Amino acid sequence: MKITFIGGGNMAQAIIGGLKAGGFDAAGIGVVEPVPEQRARLASQFGVKACATPVEAAPLGDVVVMAVKPQQMHDAAASVVPHLGRDTLVLSIAAGIRIGDLARWLGGHALIARCMPNTPALIGAGMTAACATPAVSAAQRANVDRVLGAMGKSIWVDSEALLDPVTAISGSGPAYVFYFIEALEAAARELGLAPADARLLALETFLGAAKLASGSPDDPATLRTKVTSKGGTTEAALASMEASGVKAAISRATQAANARSIELGDLLGKD
Ligand SMILES: NC(=O)c1ccc[n+]([C@@H]2O[C@H](COP(=O)([O-])OP(=O)(O)OC[C@H]3O[C@@H](n4cnc5c(N)ncnc54)[C@H](OP(=O)(O)O)[C@@H]3O)[C@@H](O)[C@H]2O)c1
Repeated sequence: MKITFIGGGNMAQAIIGGLKAGGFDAAGIGVVEPVPEQRARLASQFGVKACATPVEAAPLGDVVVMAVKPQQMHDAAASVVPHLGRDTLVLSIAAGIRIGDLARWLGGHALIARCMPNTPALIGAGMTAACATPAVSAAQRANVDRVLGAMGKSIWVDSEALLDPVTAISGSGPAYVFYFIEALEAAARELGLAPADARLLALETFLGAAKLASGSPDDPATLRTKVTSKGGTTEAALASMEASGVKAAISRATQAANARSIELGDLLGKD
C-alpha cells in the first residue's frame, strides 16, 4: 500500500509515527505539506518523501489521507483532483467535513472514507470512528484500518450521521475528562491536600480506574457497585452526585456537542 498525506501537521505526523512503529515502510509514504520547515522535519524524522505540491507527490497511491484543517479542506481537495487514480481511496480525518461535500470538492470522486479521531491519537491512544461510501471495498476498508490503527483503537459506524454523536462522545470527550480531573484536583485542594498531591491523586485515579474498567469483564456500573459499600464514603459521594443531577448534566452536555457538530457540518459544507 502507498499512502500520501495531504497536510503534514500534528495528526499526519502522529499517524506516520504509528505506521512506522508498526513496521510500515517509509518508502510507501508521501506527504504534501506547504511549510518548508515541516517538510524538512518529516523527511529527517520519518524518512518520508515530503513535497510542496500534489504534482510532485504523484502518483498519490492507494490511500490519500486528507489531514488538513477543516477550513483548508476545500482548497486541499481541489489541489489533489487532477492526481487521483480511479481506485484511490480518499480518507478524511477532518472534523465536521461531510462525505458529500468532500466528494463534490473532489469532482465527484466516489471512494471516500471519513473518520473522527481524538486528541490521544497524538500519543497512539486515540479512539476513532469511521464510515465509508458503499463503493469502498473490503480491501480498502482494511487499508483504512491499518491507517487508523496507527492512532490507537478504531470502529466502523454504518451511517455517517453517527459521526456527530461520535464527535460528542469521543471527539470532544478528552476535554470532558480533563474537566473532571480538574474538578477532582480542585476538590482535593479544598479538602486540604497539597497542590502536587492533589494533581497526582486526581490524575492517577482516572488513569487507574480507566485501566481497571477497560481490562475488566464487569461493566462500569458493576464495578461502581462493587466499590460502593452500604453506608460508606463512596455511597455518600455518589448519592450527592445523583442529587445534583451530574448524570443528566453529562447527557445534556453531549446533546449540546452533538447539535453543534451538526451545525458545524452545515457551515463547513457551505462553499
Ligand atoms: N488534533 C487532533 O487531536 C484532532 C482530532 C480529531 C480530528 N482532527 C483533525 O485532523 C485534521 C488535521 O489536524 P492537525 O492538528 O494535524 O492540523 P495541522 O497541524 O494544522 O496540520 C495541517 C497541515 O496541513 C497544511 N496544509 C494546509 N493547506 C494545505 C494544502 N492545501 N495542501 C497540503 N497541506 C496543507 C498546513 O499548513 P499551514 O500551517 O500552512 O496551514 C498544516 O501544516 C484537522 O482537520 C482536524 O479536524 C484532529
